[in-house]
Amino acid sequence: MDDLVVRPAARLRGRPALPGDKSISHRALLLALLAAGESRIAAAGDGEDVRSTAGVVRALGATVERSAERAGRVDYRVVSPGGSALVEPDAFLDCGNSGTTTRLVCGLLAGRPLFAVLDGDASLRRRPMGRVVEPLAAMGASFSGRRGATLLPLAVTGRADLTPIDYATPVPSAQVKSAILLAALAAQGETRIVEAVATRDHTERMLRARGVTVTEATTEDGRHEVRLMGPATVKAIDETVPSDPSGAAFWLVAGAIHPDAELHLEGVSTNPTRRAIIDILRRMGADIEEHDLSAPGGADGEPLADLVVRSSRLHAVDLGPTEVAAAIDEIPVLCLAAAAATGTTRIRGAGELRHKESDRIAGIADGLTALGARVRVTGDDIEIEGGRRLTGAITETLDDHRLAMTFAIAGLIAEGETTVRRPGSAAISYPGFFAELEGVRA
Ligand code: S3P
Repeated sequence: MDDLVVRPAARLRGRPALPGDKSISHRALLLALLAAGESRIAAAGDGEDVRSTAGVVRALGATVERSAERAGRVDYRVVSPGGSALVEPDAFLDCGNSGTTTRLVCGLLAGRPLFAVLDGDASLRRRPMGRVVEPLAAMGASFSGRRGATLLPLAVTGRADLTPIDYATPVPSAQVKSAILLAALAAQGETRIVEAVATRDHTERMLRARGVTVTEATTEDGRHEVRLMGPATVKAIDETVPSDPSGAAFWLVAGAIHPDAELHLEGVSTNPTRRAIIDILRRMGADIEEHDLSAPGGADGEPLADLVVRSSRLHAVDLGPTEVAAAIDEIPVLCLAAAAATGTTRIRGAGELRHKESDRIAGIADGLTALGARVRVTGDDIEIEGGRRLTGAITETLDDHRLAMTFAIAGLIAEGETTVRRPGSAAISYPGFFAELEGVRA
C-alpha cells in the first residue's frame, strides 16, 4: 500500500464498522481444532493475524470454510477430527506477523505427538519465544530453534502425556498463560499458573464454555491464579465474536480529541480484562457513554456494549505497570490522547511494548515527536507533555498496525498533512480501517 496522506477532518460522525475481536477469534479457531466435530464462529475478525491462525488450523487437519465476508469480519465453519487426531503438517506452519498464533499454537502442539515447525515474518522472527518454550519444555515438550529455541523458526515435538506444572509467569502475558492452558489439556493432573497481574481471560472463559473446568482465585499475596485439571476434552460449540475493543480504541481516542465528534461503536467487548482503555480515557475526562448489551447468550459470557464517544477536554493521567498490562495494545493510541490532553502524562513500566510487532515505545515517541508532541522516554517510562498543537509530518509505522492506525488518527486533528508511511499493516488487525477513516469524515 502507498503512503497515506491524512488531512484534518472538520467533523467526525458515524458508526465505523469494527472487526471481530482478534484475541477471541484466534482462540475460537484453535479450540475448534481441538474439538471433534463442527464449530461455527460468527463475525470473527478477518485481519491477517486471524487468517494466519486459520491457515495453521487447516494445516493441522481441520476443514475451515469462510463465508459472509464483510467489513473486518467473516464467518467460519470448522470441522475437525479433534485434538487426538491432528495431522502432522507437511510444511512450515506460517504464523505471519502473529505472536498470538505462534505462542498459542506452541501450547496446543506441546500436548500432541507430532513434529511441526513454526515460522513467520521478519518482525515475528525477532520476537521472544523463550517465554512459552520454557514452561512448555518443563511440561515435557521438545523445542529447537535459533538462540536456544527462543526465536523462530521453531521446531516443536509434542507428546500426549505432558507433566502438569505450577508456574508463575515472569511477565504479564495472556499468550503465555493461554499456551500453558492449551498444553495443560494434555497433562496428567492439575496445572496451576500464577500471574502477578491478571491478563485477558478469554482462554479461561472459552474453555469453560466448551466443557473444561478452569478455576480462578486470588492468592494470599494478591496474585491471580488459574488451575486446569488435565487431561480434558474440548467440546465443539458455536459462538459469535464481539467487536474488538482494541480496534474501537482508535475511534474512542479520535472522538475524544477531535473538537467536533460523535462516534457510535457497536457491540464492543467490555470484558473486565479488556476495558481498561474505556476507563482510562474516562479518567482523562473523555465523554464515553456505554449501553450494556450483555444479555444471556452474549458471546461465551463476554460482556459487550454499544459505546458513544463525543468531543471531550482531556487531561493528563498517570499509569503504572498494572494499567499498562491491562491496556497493553492500546498504549500507542493512548499516547496520542495524552499528547492532545492538558498536563503531563506519565506511563511507567511499559517495557513489554518493546517486544510487540515493533519497538512501540520508540515508534510512538518518534511519530508523536515528528507531529510536534513533547515525548520523553526514560528506560521503560514514557512522559508526554500534552496540549501542544500537533502539525502534520511524516510518520513511520515500522510496519506495525497499531502505529499505522494511531498516526492516521493523529492526522485527523493535526494541522496540515500527515503522511503515514507504509500503512498497509493496519490489515493485520483491522482490515477496512482506512475506509472507515474516510467514512467518519462525512
Ligand atoms: C494477546 C495478548 C497480548 C496482546 C496481544 C494479544 C492475546 O500479548 O498484546 O495483542 O490474545 O492473548 P502478550 O500476551 O504478549 O501480552
